[in-house]
Amino acid sequence: MQLITLILLGIFVVGLALIHFVRAFQEINSPKYPPGPTQIPWVGRIHDLPIQLMWLKFKEWADIHAIDGFYRTTMLGANFVIVTDEKVAEDLLVRRARTNSDRPVIQSLFNNKSSMEYLPLMGRNQYWARQRKLTHAYLTEATNAQYHGVLDFEAKRWLARLLARPDDFQASLEDMASKVMCQLVWDDPSLSAACAEGAWGLLRQMSPAGPITNVLTPLWHLPEIGPLNPWKRDERRRHDAQQAWWMERLLGVRQKMARGEMRACWTRQFLERAKTSSMAAGGITTDFEASSMLGMLALVGVFTVAGPLSYFLVSMVTHPRWQAEVQREIDEACQGRLPTLDDAPKLPVLRACIKETMRWKPNVPTGVAHETEADDVYAGYFIPKGTRILPLDWAFLRNPAKYPDPDHFRPERWLEAGWPTFRSPLTRYPTLKGMTSFGWGQRQCLGQSLTEDELLVACGALAWCFHLRPRRDAETGLDLPVPVDKSNSLLIIKPDPFEMAFEPRSEARRREALRLWAEAEALDKKQRADFLERARSKTTTTAAAAAAATNEKKAPGYDTSTSEVSSLLDEKKDAATAYRFAHPAGSEADVAWQLLPPSSIFPLTMQ
Ligand code: HEM
Repeated sequence: MQLITLILLGIFVVGLALIHFVRAFQEINSPKYPPGPTQIPWVGRIHDLPIQLMWLKFKEWADIHAIDGFYRTTMLGANFVIVTDEKVAEDLLVRRARTNSDRPVIQSLFNNKSSMEYLPLMGRNQYWARQRKLTHAYLTEATNAQYHGVLDFEAKRWLARLLARPDDFQASLEDMASKVMCQLVWDDPSLSAACAEGAWGLLRQMSPAGPITNVLTPLWHLPEIGPLNPWKRDERRRHDAQQAWWMERLLGVRQKMARGEMRACWTRQFLERAKTSSMAAGGITTDFEASSMLGMLALVGVFTVAGPLSYFLVSMVTHPRWQAEVQREIDEACQGRLPTLDDAPKLPVLRACIKETMRWKPNVPTGVAHETEADDVYAGYFIPKGTRILPLDWAFLRNPAKYPDPDHFRPERWLEAGWPTFRSPLTRYPTLKGMTSFGWGQRQCLGQSLTEDELLVACGALAWCFHLRPRRDAETGLDLPVPVDKSNSLLIIKPDPFEMAFEPRSEARRREALRLWAEAEALDKKQRADFLERARSKTTTTAAAAAAATNEKKAPGYDTSTSEVSSLLDEKKDAATAYRFAHPAGSEADVAWQLLPPSSIFPLTMQ
């Protein structure tokens, strides 16, 4: 080919690319979309959005670009509307909830939208609807004596652990939150370490700051040949181990129930209802779905509560005046007793300090994205179907009109008339319920009451037992600073590891805390032993227990066996093998989902 022809061809190709680029640039920056930073075709603003502390950049853009409380940006083709004003969140996520309550795909999870495993991450589908209903029922029914007992019991254990190993406080704090959930869901606090490990595994996997494949999404689709795609391999391992562990829990409870040896817990409650019919089990018809729903419920209560608990320590160490106020209030209201939930109306300062901690250091600072299911026009701007709406909690909670002096810890904003957020009576307010941090509309958090109760009991116990102080440097004799702005950058955050001191408020308080734990632990052991003894004396023969288990298996409308699904899959062996080959990333649940008629996975419902 002649040189001149080559040059002309080159000019033509470059010209064509330029025209494409200009058209794409004009389209992506079209004034029909909400205002926002200038978008680069195909890339959006991925290049200048830091993975670390991403919410600060979102807020910075908001201060420059947001008009009337929202703006738009894009990342690798995904369209985002970032909401920075509560009224806009109300309009888009509550009033228009019918079309704005879906969830986006999380690339580094297998089918987060369509699988029935992780309620908070599911698309707005049938599994989400029935699991949300059932989860809601558990969490609202939870306001009974047994649940209060669990919170008090674990708070006492935590105090004793802090007295014995104060430097281990971050691990013991998380373990306490995990033990509460493991007791409520399976009546077994010894499961807490595994539950917490699972919780952090999933949290990391679903966060933009987790695997790189959540940001550079095309990497996820690399073939799994040799070391090419470690992300899928790691996720499959995590996923399968998590599912197997959840299933073991469910089967373990069922076995104990058959022997009459299972005390009250949410899994037992579920299985008892499932024995009646799938309707009574909320429409859930398989062990796979049931074990996932219950497992997820346990898991979600770990990292969510651990964040504000850690930040409460930061608030108290760095604001000794407020710590002294909380201690004075508890001493006066409880007359030296360890506070319980019944004392809540008399403890407004404690509640204000907890709420202000959550405002000052929100632990889901970006909010959780909702995805739109239809094209929409809002305030004259076009919001296409599939847009991710991000309710930026960091911005809501730093709105100076609602929260004057927003960057500072000011619990008085909840306690003194004259502040925009003050509400009376103080026996009821401040309350955590309804905070923007719990999200919006149809996807609003279901754990608000549990969070409020658990934080009150745990933070109340801390202030009752300890002076929370900075750690003193042994060499210099100076206080080691507790950083207030250092955290991880996962979707749900907690402060980076720091050091502090837990100083018992007096020798008498120290002894009383240890006595309370010894008493509670002995009582718990005795109650468990008595229960087992009664159960064993009731069970006349092992055969009767086996019969009970068999009967349960045949209960109408509820498919207890994953093996039934497996044997159906066996019948479709060739298709299953072919599917597994073509979709190496798919789990066994995916294979079942693709190949079996819905009736085999959901015998009674949703057809
Ligand atoms: C400080 C504590 C917590 C915070 C800040 C928090 C925050 C949130 C947020 C922001 C969402 C998403 C809302 C939305 O999409 O608009 C959510 C959903 C959810 N939360 Fe929480 N949460 C907390 C504690 C808990 C606890 C203790 C539980 C249960 C044990 C729980 C259970 C759930 C569930 C099941 C969902 C999913 C709701 C759905 O997608 O329909 N949360 N939470």
